[in-house]
Amino acid sequence: MHKPEAQEENKRVFVDLLKSTQRKGIDLLLEYLETKTDFYSAPASTRYHNNCVGGLLAHTLNVYENFKNLLALRGIEMAEESVVIVALLHDICKCNYYVLEQRNKKINGKWEQVSVWSNTKSVSPPLPHSYRSIRMIQQFFRLTPQEELCIYYHMGPYGGEDYEYRGLLQKVNTDYPESLLFYTADLFSTYLDEETFE
Ligand SMILES: [Fe+2]
Ligand SMILES: [Fe+2]
Repeated sequence: MHKPEAQEENKRVFVDLLKSTQRKGIDLLLEYLETKTDFYSAPASTRYHNNCVGGLLAHTLNVYENFKNLLALRGIEMAEESVVIVALLHDICKCNYYVLEQRNKKINGKWEQVSVWSNTKSVSPPLPHSYRSIRMIQQFFRLTPQEELCIYYHMGPYGGEDYEYRGLLQKVNTDYPESLLFYTADLFSTYLDEETFE
């Protein structure tokens, strides 16, 4: 389990894993994250899980560990470079997205200023976050169809409510069990490994 406070160590593991894929374009993506984004310090959410500095980075590594373990548990094979890419980059669109804001909160009967994470920035284009991550990654290199499926459906039943989405998800879960396990790895990380900070 990776803790958000181990930011430097987590960053080293993250960079080494992505470089190990040797995917053409990965160096440019890493340079972009380093110089143009807050990826390494960003939270993973506003108030649900790892809502703290370094939370997003730690979340991606937790998903990587859980995904590898679930694949091994079920004997499902997936190329290591694909495991690394989907786990570490599935929430990449959350960089440059959250901001710290000051709010008034009553603590023990007294109003005090507290810092809270907010995502009030507008989303452009207004697409679901899984798809925004795919678009961001593909500015640097092509994803394989299997990688794209894992990232697109990583919210499982929470990714859409319409009839078509439900039908496609059933087919994906049946035909691409690695995608179902990836959604499960994201859930395990969120609810079993990560904390919510008040
Ligand atoms: Fe996500
Ligand atoms: Fe996630």
